[in-house]
Amino acid sequence: MKTLIEPFKIKMVEAIRQTSVQERRQILEKAHYNAFKIKAEDILIDFLTDSGTGAMSDRQWSAMMMGDESYAGSRSFFKFEAIIKKITGYAHVIPTHQGRAAERILFSIMVKPGQIVPNNTHFDTTRANIEYNQAAAIDLAVPEAMHPALIHPFKGNLDLEKLKDLLEQRHRNIPLGMLTITNNSGGGQPVSMANIRETAQLLKKYEIPFFLDACRFAENAYFIKQREKGYDQKSVLEIAQEIFSYADGCTMSGKKDGMANIGGFLAVNDGRLAAQARNLLILTEGFPSYGGLAGRDLAALAVGLEEVLHEDYLKYRLRTAEYMGEQLLAVGIQIIQPTGGHAVYLDAKSFYPHIPSHHYPGQALVCELYKKGGVRGVEIGSVMFGKKNPETGNEIPAAMELVRLAFPRRTYTQSHFDYAIEAIIETYHERESAKGMRIIWEAPFLRHFTAKFSPAG
Ligand code: F0G
Repeated sequence: MKTLIEPFKIKMVEAIRQTSVQERRQILEKAHYNAFKIKAEDILIDFLTDSGTGAMSDRQWSAMMMGDESYAGSRSFFKFEAIIKKITGYAHVIPTHQGRAAERILFSIMVKPGQIVPNNTHFDTTRANIEYNQAAAIDLAVPEAMHPALIHPFKGNLDLEKLKDLLEQRHRNIPLGMLTITNNSGGGQPVSMANIRETAQLLKKYEIPFFLDACRFAENAYFIKQREKGYDQKSVLEIAQEIFSYADGCTMSGKKDGMANIGGFLAVNDGRLAAQARNLLILTEGFPSYGGLAGRDLAALAVGLEEVLHEDYLKYRLRTAEYMGEQLLAVGIQIIQPTGGHAVYLDAKSFYPHIPSHHYPGQALVCELYKKGGVRGVEIGSVMFGKKNPETGNEIPAAMELVRLAFPRRTYTQSHFDYAIEAIIETYHERESAKGMRIIWEAPFLRHFTAKFSPAG
């Protein structure tokens, strides 16, 4: 059969509130043209993030009913610990309320002021947690990652030559090295097994610990199965086990490939590091057998981490982004190619060539998509990453002007995607009349969450 169906059927539904274009115009104006300020009930298709927004299975919900809420030694913790040990092989599993809590704990133990941490591309919270410890987060993605239209099977790879140079010059100052799988900030692109292995070998030469930011490890493992020689006959579990075997530990947001609404963990081999992490955990997160989560959350994650490795799920998951990408490319809409695991990234610079960076083409596109179809995406461009030049006061634009449409797991059907595709294509047909945006108010940090805009000119 040619048609790939969603590998699940629907047992519970949540109504979507229909809105008219006229209503959405008013909602947008009231939200100061910032999609973060729109109420979720005013959104038809929400592609703001794939984080914590997916649908849980009947098996997860029933496991939640069996959640053990004991403060210490909960049965749900041991189930959670067992599946993580099975997948990663790491000796110590420390639950946290989400990924960034694992990052905070790891970096506050390992990273000292003035040090540097290399990664393919640090996710915002990873970078922020490193910088909070007065260290530098360095991105070493391969040059192919910078070219949206360039096709390459593993655009998430780290540039090994650059890492080699950095290690030769600065190895005493590098407390750990990281790889983000898949590389979210670089378009949800996978990292190859060869690249993971070689990164590990380079770091090992200098006895530098190696950690994975493993949020989307299952999607990455399935890309390896599809694209890397020698892996097509291996199970996704075996591939994941090999990935984790090269590293000393990982941070994880269970809100992505944990298939749950909340949760995360830090897993490590080093017993001393684990003991230090548990001490910090008790201080701010909770006792080591719950780490700020309810027993039912641990139970949902234990099942989610097993379900995410099902190959019919992963096949459908990666095909979803590919399907949307194909339809958009067919009418000439530029995206990051090839499509990654969890999202499609629209190239707003080529969508709106008449809107200059300082009028934020990505922000304009987010607003037009909402107006046209009630579809919410997120700007990843000069609003998020533009920097003020301290001398001139002018803004230095971001390297790319993108709009990310991230897909909640198991939540929307193909007709939802067809609807969103139609909204994007209709918006594209009307591209010449679109106007840019001006920032009329901004916060000193992470301005994209709260900035107020008005249409420019
Ligand atoms: N690392 C990566 C690669 C991520 O994508 C995220 C979250 C985190 C760490 C932090 O995890 O949210 O559980 O604390 N990414 C979400 C997103 C927020 O929309 O891409 P968290």
